[in-house]
Amino acid sequence: MNIGLLGFGTVGKGVYDITATHPDLQVTRVLCRRDLTLPDAQVTHDFYDILNDESIDTVVEVLGGLHPAWDYVKAAILAGKNVVTANKALVNHFYDELIPLVEQSGVKFRCTAAVGGGIGWLTELERVKRIDTLSKVGGIMNGTCNYILDNMTTKGLDYGVALKQAQELGYAEADPSADVDGPDTWNKTIISANIAFDVSLDKTSVPVCGIRNISAVDVAEFTKRGYVCKMIGTAEKGEHGISAYVQPTLVPNGEPAAAVPMNYNLISMVGSNSGPRSLFGQGAGRYPTAYNVVQDCVDVLNGVGFYASYGQPVAANNDVALSYYVRGASDAWLEGNVSESWGEGVLTKPVAVAEMHAWLKQHPDAFIAAVN
Ligand code: HSE
Repeated sequence: MNIGLLGFGTVGKGVYDITATHPDLQVTRVLCRRDLTLPDAQVTHDFYDILNDESIDTVVEVLGGLHPAWDYVKAAILAGKNVVTANKALVNHFYDELIPLVEQSGVKFRCTAAVGGGIGWLTELERVKRIDTLSKVGGIMNGTCNYILDNMTTKGLDYGVALKQAQELGYAEADPSADVDGPDTWNKTIISANIAFDVSLDKTSVPVCGIRNISAVDVAEFTKRGYVCKMIGTAEKGEHGISAYVQPTLVPNGEPAAAVPMNYNLISMVGSNSGPRSLFGQGAGRYPTAYNVVQDCVDVLNGVGFYASYGQPVAANNDVALSYYVRGASDAWLEGNVSESWGEGVLTKPVAVAEMHAWLKQHPDAFIAAVN
C-alpha cells in the first residue's frame, strides 16, 4: 500500500513511525505545513501532489477540523483512493454525503481512531453486529473531560487548573470547548449510534451539554452522596425509536464507569447475546490513536471497508425521563420539578431529557448532571 499522509502533527508522526515497521505499508508522501525532511517520504505543502500521484492508493487524513480536511477526503474518494481518517468531526458532520459517496465510488473507508482513539471500539461494533443486535452504546469517550472530572474528584483540583493540565498533557482539542462543552463526545456518540443501529441520526435531535460550569461545591456534594460525575454519551434503541444525548452524569461509586481514571475512556454496549460489555483504554494520544489508524490501513489492504451500510435517516426522540442535579439558576419550571435539596443545588423529579436540555439553553450559567 502506498500512503499519502495528510498531516504530521501528534497522530501523523505516530502513523509515520508505526508504518515504518510494517513492510506492506509505505508512506510515500506527506502533506505538512512545516518545512520538514523525512528519510522515506517526500514532504509537500500541496495536496495536489498527493491527489495526482497515481501510485498512491490510500490517503490517511489526520489534519483534524472540517476544512480543508473534508475537501481533501472528498477529492481523494472521487479520484478512486481509499481513505483512512481519525477525524470524528468530519465523519459526523459529513456522514450523509460521505458514506453514500464511499458506497458509490467503491473505495474503502475506515475511521476506527475517530471514536475511542486506541481502543478499537468501532471495529468491535462491526464484529458484534455479525451475530448480535445492539440495543445500547455509549460511555466515557472524552479523555480531557475525564481527566478534569477525575482530578476534581480525587485530588480536589479546581476546574481551571485541571483543564490547564489536560491541555499541557496534549489530551485537549486545539479548541478545548470541543471537549468541555461536549461536541467531541457528541460526534463520537452519533457515529457510534449510526454504526450500531445502521441509521443516520438527525444530529439536531441529539442534545449536548458539558462540564464548563461544574465547581468544587458540586463535586463535594456528589462525593458526600456516593456519586462520581462523568461526561457520558448515550444512544439507546427502545420500542419507540432511538434516544441519544450527551451530558454530565452521576455514576454510583462502585460501578466501573465511576472508577475510570485520568484521561482513559470506557465505552460500553449491550448486545442481544453478548449482553453488557465495556472496552477500556486510551481514547487519545499519539501512538494509541496512530495504532488504530494503521490497523485501518491493514484492513483496507485486506479489502475491508466501512462498518455499516448507509442507514435510514432518523431523529432521536429522547423520550427518556431522568432525575437531574441542577445548580446555578432557578425558575418556576424548575421549582415545580424539584424533589429534594442537594447542597447548593436541587435534585429534580424525573423529567424528559429534551425538556431539561431546553431549560439549560435558557440558563447557560447553570450546571446540570443526570443521575444514572
Ligand atoms: N480531545 C479528545 C479527548 C481527543 O480528550 O478525548 C480524542 O478525540
